[in-house]
Amino acid sequence: MKGVKKHFEEEASEFDNVILKLVPHYIQMIDALVLAIPFNNNDSINIIDLGCGTGYVSMNIKERFPNSKLTCLDFAENMIAQAKIRMNKYRNVNFILKDIRKFEFDKNYDAVVSSLALHHLETKNDKIKFYKKIFNALEPGGVFYNADIILGSNSTLHELYISKWKEFMAKNLPGEEIEDTWMAKHHKEDRPEVLLDQISWLKDIGFKEIDIVWKYYNFAVYGGTKPK
Ligand SMILES: C[S@@+](CC[C@H](N)C(=O)[O-])C[C@H]1O[C@@H](n2cnc3c(N)ncnc32)[C@H](O)[C@@H]1O
Repeated sequence: MKGVKKHFEEEASEFDNVILKLVPHYIQMIDALVLAIPFNNNDSINIIDLGCGTGYVSMNIKERFPNSKLTCLDFAENMIAQAKIRMNKYRNVNFILKDIRKFEFDKNYDAVVSSLALHHLETKNDKIKFYKKIFNALEPGGVFYNADIILGSNSTLHELYISKWKEFMAKNLPGEEIEDTWMAKHHKEDRPEVLLDQISWLKDIGFKEIDIVWKYYNFAVYGGTKPK
């Protein structure tokens, strides 16, 4: 995990440019994540963005819910610094510099969202434990949605997903950089899980109205509601 923090500290200034080259349809994926939050635009809801990075998700939340009270959490100082610049014009935004794994929720939230961060939790158990923690921190009727890299249900699908991912990256990046930099980092740092396993963990934890809102091969937006 030390390597993950170092990677994002170093990448912060380039992140917004790079992410568009690495993640297929990133803007559409984040749009789906933010559109899944089921409240009225004027509601003053409490929302937390876990692993907020440079704040692209947070910015979209504030554009859609201007009265929301938004918490942006990340453990990389340089990423948070970029997020602070981006979020400067919005009211009711606070920042927490913290490792997700050590984070105790400071209050109950109407929406917990995350993008491309929770796959860094190392094991299945770490993820299940953290999803439970999110469930406990939600208000009844609150929602959790995660946009993330995932695994397919078998090796044939996995190979297809990886080849489609590389095909996308190849439109923007030289083949050598894809393999030596990005796939190398992916193998070293990322711990994605089978999407349908994650869906069943959410079910077991007690989430309802679980759905996969958006999907493009090995990237998906999924989550559910804590019942009232
Ligand atoms: C790929 S970036 C995504 C940033 C942003 N959510 C987005 O979609 O543009 C992943 C972010 O998660 C953060 N992150 C990864 N593991 C974390 C952890 N254990 N605690 C807090 N932040 C973490 C990284 O620092 C980084 O900013």
